[in-house]
Amino acid sequence: MAVRTDAVGRLLTQAVLTALEAPSVLNTQPWRWRIDGDTAQLRADRTRQLRVIDPDARLLTLACGASLHHARVALAADGVTATVRYLPDEGDPDLLAMLRYTGRTGPSDEAQRLRAAVGRRRSDRRPFADEPVPDAVVDRLMRAAAAAGVNIRVARPEDLATLAAAAGHAANVQRSDPAYRAEIAAWVRGGIPAEVAAQPSGARPVSLRALDDEPDASIYSGQAVTDRNARYAIIVTDGDSPRDWLTAGEAYSAVVLGAIADGLAFSPLSDLVEIVAARTTLRRMLGGVGWPAMVVRLGVAAGSAGAARSPLRPTADVMEVA
Ligand SMILES: Cc1cc2nc3c(=O)[nH]c(=O)nc-3n(C[C@H](O)[C@H](O)[C@H](O)COP(=O)(O)O)c2cc1C
Repeated sequence: MAVRTDAVGRLLTQAVLTALEAPSVLNTQPWRWRIDGDTAQLRADRTRQLRVIDPDARLLTLACGASLHHARVALAADGVTATVRYLPDEGDPDLLAMLRYTGRTGPSDEAQRLRAAVGRRRSDRRPFADEPVPDAVVDRLMRAAAAAGVNIRVARPEDLATLAAAAGHAANVQRSDPAYRAEIAAWVRGGIPAEVAAQPSGARPVSLRALDDEPDASIYSGQAVTDRNARYAIIVTDGDSPRDWLTAGEAYSAVVLGAIADGLAFSPLSDLVEIVAARTTLRRMLGGVGWPAMVVRLGVAAGSAGAARSPLRPTADVMEVA
């Protein structure tokens, strides 16, 4: 792989290396970045699309939006100004975004705070501590999502039954489908360490997607209820097009990096937006306005040991320097 030693090339390379640490559905990392002149181009890698779970590439595009946001955070943290063009070529829908270096400015403190969270960020599926999430932190995360251009709705206590029903329905539909179970098994085997995929025991108000290939969702009758203080944030876009999914991904990245920077833990629940009936249930809960794009469970981590890290793809497979 070519290496750029000029200042702009080095800054763009740093930004792309940061982008490669972004979260993605089942750790598919469905992106390719190319640095060319004063631009960094983000392309979808559809060979890594989940054909059963994500037939429209909505989650793939969302993950790429998160990667784009990571790159923008790195540039802003380094005091770089850049323009971004989304889906710049109608004839080339895989070209999702083009970042262009435009100059230097003072480094942004907020971007530096978020960039420092990139290496510590993990999806943490373990039960949270029985400690409340401070409202001030939730407010800050909502503002971060709004700055990224989407609404975020934090579920109210009376919404939990609806979320639980949607999660239960999604699990029943998906786990009874052998093609779904095969897709989960293949990607978990390829990219998610066993200790990350393991489902801790205990009932939760809203169940998480199981990352094993058993046909039945686990039943936790009679076990202690955990996650009693978890909050659930729903990222909602105005429309439901690839452009909206990119924005949702940027907001998702802003929320999870902000959560980590603020000392919280999180894990996403996208099964709630994968199955049409579950997503429709969420839409209704939101008053029928907008499109739920992602659900994020937020809470205080129990214990100080961090969640295990999932492996990244080799840089040469996902980054190219012209
Ligand atoms: C669009 C998207 C959807 C995801 N959906 C789920 C999900 O439904 N359940 C889950 O446990 N994790 C989900 N994840 C988390 C990924 O599995 C996780 O980001 C990936 O394995 C990399 O691990 P890391 O986030 O710890 O770096 C999702 C992530 C993204 C970006």
